[in-house]
Amino acid sequence: MRAAVVYESMFGNTATIASSVADGLRRAGADVTLIPVAQAGDDALRSYDLVVIGAPTHALGMSRPSTRADAVLRGAPAEVQDRGVREWLDELQDVRTVRIAVFDTRARAMRRLPGSAARHMAHLLRRRGYDVPPSASFYVGGIEGPLGRHEESRAGTWGAELGRQMQRQVA
Ligand SMILES: Cc1cc2nc3c(=O)[nH]c(=O)nc-3n(C[C@H](O)[C@H](O)[C@H](O)COP(=O)(O)O)c2cc1C
Repeated sequence: MRAAVVYESMFGNTATIASSVADGLRRAGADVTLIPVAQAGDDALRSYDLVVIGAPTHALGMSRPSTRADAVLRGAPAEVQDRGVREWLDELQDVRTVRIAVFDTRARAMRRLPGSAARHMAHLLRRRGYDVPPSASFYVGGIEGPLGRHEESRAGTWGAELGRQMQRQVA
């Protein structure tokens, strides 16, 4: 199974989780490519059996140019600001045969708030006809992080389980 993990990350936490998800998928036997969203083309779905998309939750959903600018004001590097998963999904050419799964990172302090970038992505993708499996959220302590103590290992476990499920469906 060929898989890609495409991620957006302002402060590096979603990038770390994406890498753990990729490790989990590899443990399940997948051949995995990790792709920052700035480098993901609009035809990214064409080459993979599974594409996992990860993004930070901003203002209860996916980031926008204004929330990414806000993150830069709070110390995130300016070069990751230009394109987020929202803009990439808008340009993405649909491919019916690919499976898509989603995850996000969220601030633990905002756990009671309903917003989740992953739920937002899943909603848009289901409207486009994809059968998206249940999403996962991984928690950071505050806006810049750090990741919660067990979140990297939880992400690895989630990736491995997702990989095993997909292998069963592809087989
Ligand atoms: C402008 C902005 C808005 C945010 N809004 C939310 C929010 O609504 N809910 C939430 O749980 N976290 C929110 N956060 C915290 C982010 O989810 C957190 O910064 C992110 O998970 C860190 O991931 P990253 O290091 O990959 O950028 C917000 C962060 C920023 C910068």
